[in-house]
Formats: sequence, C-alpha cells, structure tokens
Amino acid sequence: MDISDRTRLSVTLVDVAEGKDSEFLALAAEIEAMLVRKKFGNLEVIRDEGRPLRFYVVRRWTDAAAANAFHVDTEVQGLTARLYQMARVTHVVNGVRPPDALRLLGGDRRTRGDADRRMGFDRRVKNIGRPEGDRRKSGERRLGPRRIEHRPEPDKEAVDLLVAARRAREHAEADYSHFKVGAALETTDGAVFTGCNIENATLGLTICAERVAMFKARSEGHRAFRRIVIVADTREPTPPCGACRQILWEFGGNLEVQLANLSGPTGTHQLKDLLPLPFDARLL
Ligand code: THU
Repeated sequence: MDISDRTRLSVTLVDVAEGKDSEFLALAAEIEAMLVRKKFGNLEVIRDEGRPLRFYVVRRWTDAAAANAFHVDTEVQGLTARLYQMARVTHVVNGVRPPDALRLLGGDRRTRGDADRRMGFDRRVKNIGRPEGDRRKSGERRLGPRRIEHRPEPDKEAVDLLVAARRAREHAEADYSHFKVGAALETTDGAVFTGCNIENATLGLTICAERVAMFKARSEGHRAFRRIVIVADTREPTPPCGACRQILWEFGGNLEVQLANLSGPTGTHQLKDLLPLPFDARLL
C-alpha cells in the first residue's frame, strides 16, 4: 500500500494470554488478509523484544473512510471478538496521519502539542496556543509503549490501565482550566478505551475524560465494563464529577473506580458508593 497524505495509522498494544501467541499471529494474518481484500489498508505486527507476549499492531488505513468502514464491518467484528478472547487490547493511537503517529510514539517533546491537536480522523482544530499553566512538571516522564516494560509491576493489569490513562491525559485539551485529566476504561472482555477532557470556548460544552472513554467504548459496540482508572495531576484524589458518575452508572453499572495522580494510585471506590441513591432506568 502506498503511503499518501490520506493514509491514517492506528497503533494497538496487544498483550496476548499465555500460550496463545501462535493463535494470535494466525488471527492477525487473517485480519491482514481481510484488510487487503477489502482495500481497507494493511497491518503489521511487531513483537516487543522485552516482553514476548506483548505485540504492537500497526494498521495503515487507505484513508479515514476505510478506517471507519473497517469498524462497522460485521466480518471485522467477528474477528475482533476472537481477539478479545485471547488478548488484552489497548488502543494507543487512533487514525492519525503517519507523521503525527511517529511523533506521538517517539515522544518528540517539541512537536507533541501539534500532534495532539490533530488526533482523530479529520479533526480541524483552531490553535489557540498552549497554556502557561500546563501543570506538567519537568521531571514527569513522557510515556510511550517502548518504556512500559521497564516499569515495576505490582499489579500488572492496574499498571497498564494507569499507563493508558496517563498517556490519554497528555492529549487533554484543557486550555481554559489547565486541568488535564485522563481515563482508561476496561471492558469485561479486556479491551481498554481511553479518554481525556476536551474543553472549548463555550466552556459549558466541555466533556470530561471519563465520558469520552465511555462514549468511545459504547460507540464501538462495547456494553459491559469492569473498571475505570482516572488520572489527574493533583495530590488529593480527583473523583469523577456528578455528570460522569451518572453516565458511568447508567452505561457501566457498579464499576470499580480507581483514582490516581502522576505518582500512582490514590484510592479505589465502587461506583455505587460514589453515587448513592442513583436515578436510572429502573425508575422510569
Ligand atoms: N474533569 C474531568 O475530565 N474529569 C473529572 O473527573 C473532573 C473534571 C475536567 C473537566 C474540565 O475540563 C476540567 O477537568 C476542570 O473541571
């Protein structure tokens, strides 16, 4: 496939269950054949040298329309359902232009802001400048997939979700409040969807990280969820706002809600405790 201006890249991190790697590689080959046959694009699987069960799957879409067509294709849904049974899947980069993907994965600090602003299919964003108050501390590390294997792993699954939420937070568009939040929502079949807060000039139309993550997951057909990790750069835990509690409750039920800051977890709650006496469909 030629790389053109219309080409888009998606990168997914796949942690395959013990003993399932050859099955995963066979499935990846099947998905690649289908991508090529339907002219959606192509796919490359890269094994992590430091972690034999971790793979990076790079999908190169012919264009944004091909990526969208892929996600609603019923044959694709069958294949990805098989994937979720054998692996934990984290969407790292979704549908960006190839140069932006390289910057995002490579952690080039000088261009990171530009790349963040062009995330997503055909985004058009007016650049209103980076805020003075971006609370990123000089010592904070830029996270990227290549570094994950060097982290200590007290609870591998929690750490992975935390890493995903921290990475999502770096994409926050918080030019008004300067308060950046990242979230990583895990489905019961192990897929991870991330979100960050996105503010805009009307202020009131701001959407929080948690709702972005939930809506991304719902819009891809996921209906059952296990937990959500929420990361902000505050010493005290940053709990979800009232609107997010309502949405998480209605769409996710009694989720485990893990709060964290840039140094690590700051508390774990069940959603029912954060939203006692909820209003929901049972009352209608
Ligand atoms: N925010 C979130 O994204 N999640 C939370 O849990 C709390 C608040 C965002 C909304 C707004 O962009 C900024 O943080 C300040 O309220």
